[in-house]
Amino acid sequence: MEGPFPFRYFRASMPHILAPSLLSADFAELGKAVELIESSGAGWHHIDVMDGVFVPNISFGLPVIKSIRKHAKKPFDVHLMIVRPDQYINAFRDAGADHLTVHYEACSHLHRSIQAIRGAGMKAGVAINPHTRVDLLEDVLADIDIVCLMSVNPGFGGQTFIERTYSRIEALKVLRAKTGSKALIEIDGGVSQENAKRLSETGADVLVAGNSVFGAVDPGVAIQALL
Ligand code: DX5
Ligand code: ZN
Repeated sequence: MEGPFPFRYFRASMPHILAPSLLSADFAELGKAVELIESSGAGWHHIDVMDGVFVPNISFGLPVIKSIRKHAKKPFDVHLMIVRPDQYINAFRDAGADHLTVHYEACSHLHRSIQAIRGAGMKAGVAINPHTRVDLLEDVLADIDIVCLMSVNPGFGGQTFIERTYSRIEALKVLRAKTGSKALIEIDGGVSQENAKRLSETGADVLVAGNSVFGAVDPGVAIQALL
């Protein structure tokens, strides 16, 4: 066995970015969780902001993001599960967001929101819930940097992965080619060692993982196993 990571031999080299979700970290030790991601092979910090309105849960907001930004160099991938996200675009940029993802279902003027995010100097992401048809993104796909395909209903970590996500990745790849989009396909919810390889092979560019990283006995080992 070489190195401290027992999963090393079972790891296929997968060409995706891993984005651990801080939602499942111990909030009393958030700085340490950020530092763990920084010192690992993970690419981005995934940061879930929930308002108790768009989703039935409240997580954390701007002051927390601003505070942990000091501990990080890797991109902050901020996923807004909030209504009226347009009101806060500059505030999230100022707090340290590098990517800002809004929900299709929360935006009446999605194209305007995307323009505002890019205009504020961030990468623009659009998340869609499991019930939202992938092809509804056709007319904005060329203008966005990330599509976040929710593979659970948003609001909580540790939920069961929805299997239909695989065919939704396939549909999104077709739409991406048709529209000339370069958007990354990000899968969010229920990602684990059991499905990461198949997701990556199907076409996921980014895998978000909360519970399977921070719920593990050793989160550093868990990150290695998902790379
Ligand atoms: C769910 C969030 C996810 C969540 C994923 O609403 O958007 O980012 O943290 O958690 P796991 O990986 O535990 O399903
Ligand atoms: Zn998320």
